[in-house]
Amino acid sequence: MREETYSFVIAANRLPVDRHVGPDGEQEWRRSPGGLVTAMDSVMRGREGAAWVGWAGEPGEAPEPFEDSGMHLHPVALSEQEVTDYYEGFSNDTLWPIYHDVIVPATFHRRWWEAYLRVNKRFAEAVAKVSDQGATVWVHDYQLQLVPRFLRELRPDLRIGWFNHIPFPPVELFAQLPWRGQLIDGLLGADYLGFQRSADAGNFLRAARQLRGLSTKGEVVRADDDRRVRASALPISIDFAALDEMARRPDVIERAKEIRSQLGDPEVLMLGVDRLDYTKGIRHRLKAYQELLAEGHYSPPEVSLVQVAVPSRERVDAYRRLKDQIEGTVGQINGEYSTVGAAAVHYLHQSFDRAEMAAMYLAADICLVTPLRDGMNLVAKEYVTCRHDLGGALVLSEFTGAAHELNAAYLHNPHDIQGLKNTIVRAVEAQPTEKRRRMRSLRRRVREHDVQRWAERFLQALESAPERPTGTPS
Ligand code: G6P
Repeated sequence: MREETYSFVIAANRLPVDRHVGPDGEQEWRRSPGGLVTAMDSVMRGREGAAWVGWAGEPGEAPEPFEDSGMHLHPVALSEQEVTDYYEGFSNDTLWPIYHDVIVPATFHRRWWEAYLRVNKRFAEAVAKVSDQGATVWVHDYQLQLVPRFLRELRPDLRIGWFNHIPFPPVELFAQLPWRGQLIDGLLGADYLGFQRSADAGNFLRAARQLRGLSTKGEVVRADDDRRVRASALPISIDFAALDEMARRPDVIERAKEIRSQLGDPEVLMLGVDRLDYTKGIRHRLKAYQELLAEGHYSPPEVSLVQVAVPSRERVDAYRRLKDQIEGTVGQINGEYSTVGAAAVHYLHQSFDRAEMAAMYLAADICLVTPLRDGMNLVAKEYVTCRHDLGGALVLSEFTGAAHELNAAYLHNPHDIQGLKNTIVRAVEAQPTEKRRRMRSLRRRVREHDVQRWAERFLQALESAPERPTGTPS
């Protein structure tokens, strides 16, 4: 049987939904974690003639292609061993630490690389199969950096773009990768490469020059097959209108009040929302909070911290260790500073639906976003989007892509614990007029630069990229 084909195809490691099979064999689809899905889900919803190629989140045979909210989803299979080697290994224990300032050491295994090659080829084949003649293909993120090259070999008629949701490392770190040349060549199979910050695009261009000897002119690299490929910055965003609307719903506003009252109506409610990842600076945040409690600045029940830590990559050692450390620290803080009925930290190792998250954002006086390195950080943008009441304050790390746009936030360096503490106190104590002024400006930025605008700009950049695919009129 001939597969159906599409004029617009996206490829990402994960589909927007994950398959979960319960103990009795019953199947359930849940929304996948992470910023990529948050952003791309709203871009793809309701798009005609579009398909999403990705992994369904469980090892073994791929489910049959299916439809979800108007999208055509095409699952790609990963074996148990490939989940270990390609996903947990090369993607998340080699590339992820290198691309995030080596906050934890990176691990190099040739076997993992072999799996990365094999799986990237499989993704390229899956995309080639479902793409119309001359279709536009949008490849996502660090897990699929070889797909543009493999895909071009299979289908030179396609328009191929790639976007990196995470940072692209400085050449000194990227150079550690034994497969650095192949990664650059893989990416240069695309017509256009998008990055979060201009520093990331600059790092890529520098790597292409220094490690591949390629010539660049402004944002354009001349690949060794003589094609010209543009690399530039296009910071990602969220669906402002949809989330703003949700946060205005009476049931969400009611739920926000209920959350505060269930927490004992604290004067200051602080909130952290992260995947449980060492890049997010959760330990630094807890340390700052613990010191503020120890110094008597705050104490429960007047102050409370809710930390949502969404489970992530739980079989990777660095993530396991982090979970133990964080849970140990939360236990210590609660042991010392909680009172009967008022916990100093409410630690929630779970994920919540969007309406519950909107209610939490609306309930929180302070949102603590303290990554040591983050491509963008969509939590920061979600928080300000929910604050239609102009309440709340965003405490935001300088090391996020978001800090480059959200400069009305309370910016800080999370490595500087004293500085972080001072920033938190400053945000708590700021006059309501100052907070409202800042929040108004933050909201304007996200409203005017939402995810739809980002996607349009990406597709325009791809459309007007320097080279035309073979066989299409210029
Ligand atoms: C980040 C990455 C995504 C990834 C997500 C969740 O947002 O940029 O590519 O999907 O984290 O991580 P996971 O490993 O669960 O897919």
